[in-house]
Amino acid sequence: MEKKELINSGKVKSVYSCEDDDKVIIEFRDDMTAGDGARKEVMDNKGSLNAIISTKIFRVLEENGIKTQLVDLPEKNVMVAKKLEMIPIEVIVRNIATGSLVRKYPFEDGTPLDPPLVQMDFKDDEYHDPMLNDSIAKALKIATQEDLDKLKELALKVNEALKEFFDKAGIILVDFKIEFGKDADGEIILGDEISPDSCRLWDKETLDMLDKELFRKGKDNEVIDAYIEVYNRIMTDEEKEKYDM
Ligand code: C5P
Repeated sequence: MEKKELINSGKVKSVYSCEDDDKVIIEFRDDMTAGDGARKEVMDNKGSLNAIISTKIFRVLEENGIKTQLVDLPEKNVMVAKKLEMIPIEVIVRNIATGSLVRKYPFEDGTPLDPPLVQMDFKDDEYHDPMLNDSIAKALKIATQEDLDKLKELALKVNEALKEFFDKAGIILVDFKIEFGKDADGEIILGDEISPDSCRLWDKETLDMLDKELFRKGKDNEVIDAYIEVYNRIMTDEEKEKYDM
């Protein structure tokens, strides 16, 4: 499928229209950003690693009955996806308290959260993605109560499936961010990506970080190796042969 017009260029992905009106082509670029885009680097293979990892994870979620935007991965860094009307909400699920949660609230870093905590942030760079509650989301008219309930329900389902999936790969799923959109029928579908850019992943034995937090902490030279480690642990031998990363 050929790219047509650029619909949206985000910090690390570009979305294009294609001949099929109900699909889009998402190109995962090699850009890496942190701090609302304040810091930006280009890292070889990063786009492909994220697209391949995200595709694998979306397939795992589909097997668990969760609908995703994924249609196909025709090239290592190019995903064909269902066209969705994206909801400007970042749904964050946390199994362990760390990151912005411990900066804003009196949680001790590393405290397990059971049940997991679901948080929603308004996706808006100008306002620095402020945290939402149901009243604010409804007043902003970005979601109905029914939508919000569905987002929380789906986010917890994603968490359950991925906690188990990563655990088998010797990885702790600490927290992650997901985004949803509505398809032409108004059904809420998981979109965007799930990759080491959008998750905190810790090695089960050493608690070493295997995700974008390394970049946030300035350990730029360790980032790609960490993403490759995640790739190596979650892909089957057959998949590794196919993608040859
Ligand atoms: O920074 P914070 O602790 O709020 O991040 C929680 C989780 O959401 C982390 O896994 C982080 O990678 C992810 N996140 C993201 N995009 C954002 C904000 C957070 O992927 N804009």
